[in-house]
Amino acid sequence: MKLLAAPALPADADAIAVGLNADATPDALTGLPEAIAAAAAAALRDEDFKGRPGSCLGLRTLGLIDSPWLLVVGTGDGGPAALRVAAGKAADFARGRGLASLALSLGALDEAALEAVIEGADAGGYRFDRSLAEDARKAPLETLILAGCSLSDGAVDRARARAEGRRLARDLVNEPAEVIYPETLAEAAVRLASGQLSVEVWDEERILAAGMGGIHAVGRASDRPPRFVHMRWSPRGAPKARVALVGKGVTYDSGGLSLKPSNSQLTMRCDMGGAAAVIGAMSALDAIQPEVEVHGIFAAAENMVSGRSYKLGDVLRMYGGKTVEIHNTDAEGRLLLADCLHYASELGVDYCVDLATLTGAAVVALGERYSAVYTDSDALADALLGAAEASGDGFWRMPLDSGYRSLLKSDWATLKNVGGREAGSITAALFLSEFVDGPTWAHIDIAGPAFLSAPVDHYGKGATGHPVPSLLRWLESF
Ligand code: BES
Ligand code: MN
Ligand code: ZN
Repeated sequence: MKLLAAPALPADADAIAVGLNADATPDALTGLPEAIAAAAAAALRDEDFKGRPGSCLGLRTLGLIDSPWLLVVGTGDGGPAALRVAAGKAADFARGRGLASLALSLGALDEAALEAVIEGADAGGYRFDRSLAEDARKAPLETLILAGCSLSDGAVDRARARAEGRRLARDLVNEPAEVIYPETLAEAAVRLASGQLSVEVWDEERILAAGMGGIHAVGRASDRPPRFVHMRWSPRGAPKARVALVGKGVTYDSGGLSLKPSNSQLTMRCDMGGAAAVIGAMSALDAIQPEVEVHGIFAAAENMVSGRSYKLGDVLRMYGGKTVEIHNTDAEGRLLLADCLHYASELGVDYCVDLATLTGAAVVALGERYSAVYTDSDALADALLGAAEASGDGFWRMPLDSGYRSLLKSDWATLKNVGGREAGSITAALFLSEFVDGPTWAHIDIAGPAFLSAPVDHYGKGATGHPVPSLLRWLESF
């Protein structure tokens, strides 16, 4: 998508969009051509249009101006969060009609607002339509024109890099499990190799030999064997900190022998959303150049049913030597993550953040707008929630209360892999905490926001790439 700045709204864009703040009246539309201002104001009154963030009214201009479409988007309080959604909604509208160019007049934008608008427009114009019939596919937006604002190169480049990272994560998650399986997910990481980024991939034999009993048990029933992936990105100067991003990469979660009902399996290609977020974030580092050493780590496995399935009552020996008694083969993500978290601890990193579509309980608690954030560190919680706020990603801190640790007690092993129905997302986090040794750690359960069952703001159904921009803003903050 080409990005241009213009002093005023150009006459020849396929659509022009103007913003309306929540406290403004329809006559307050700024930057609108005289020829259509009165008609637009009347239409807004008819529709009782209030300028709420996320609202968008598309009007045919019927020859009053050259552009065939006028869009009015609600800009709420005029802040970056509302502008992001407004730009996203306008881009969504344009993309839905295959329009090639869109001009946005949202006032003078400071750097934060400019970045939000670029990221919002990119996310709103995203479609995953590669499997649709030719005539059902619309052309992507070619040109975005920002009227009445100047572009600062640094902000534009950062915003574009975050947006691209988010797109990559969305594409990986939206692809069916027949396309993205452990081997091809690992290949997506290998494709990122660059002068600053190296990638190491372990196959099933190597995983077993290393003693990663969690990854091996979960992955072994499938005809598509598991992979362990370690990406390493090094800054040009001395790193300010060393960080690990760890992702859950279950390319399909059938539940295993604790089989999920059909309805629950339908979207379980989304269960590698954590690994996709790690890959998406890593893909943007060359462009963003944070002053940190970043390790991107994930295990990729298909949780399937076969004669080689791991079983209830099995006791697994995990990487690092702790043992886990299996009470439910559908609580598989924490087994993969446990091995990865111990591996990340061995690297001696300062910070470790894991991303996982880990529990339905997190979705019950917070829905699809918020991920559940667990950490003992107030400083890390503040940093992550701040980065999420600036990115428009919903993060909500939850209690990592060791009082619930007793729910994971096992008669046969160090701990069991489920804690029961209550506090299901908390006990999952507590399970993970047992395998972290050293780094300041946070766990982010992205089961809700990673993959939407219905549109939220300017994101359509399906993968969102959540929370790639938040991770990047956090890394940029060092
Ligand atoms: N991948 C699922 C969690 C999930 C649910 C992700 C809905 C996205 C949307 C995870 O592996 C799982 O099955 N968790 C179980 C845990 C239970 C057995 C303790 C769950 O949430 O039911
Ligand atoms: Mn599961
Ligand atoms: Zn799962």
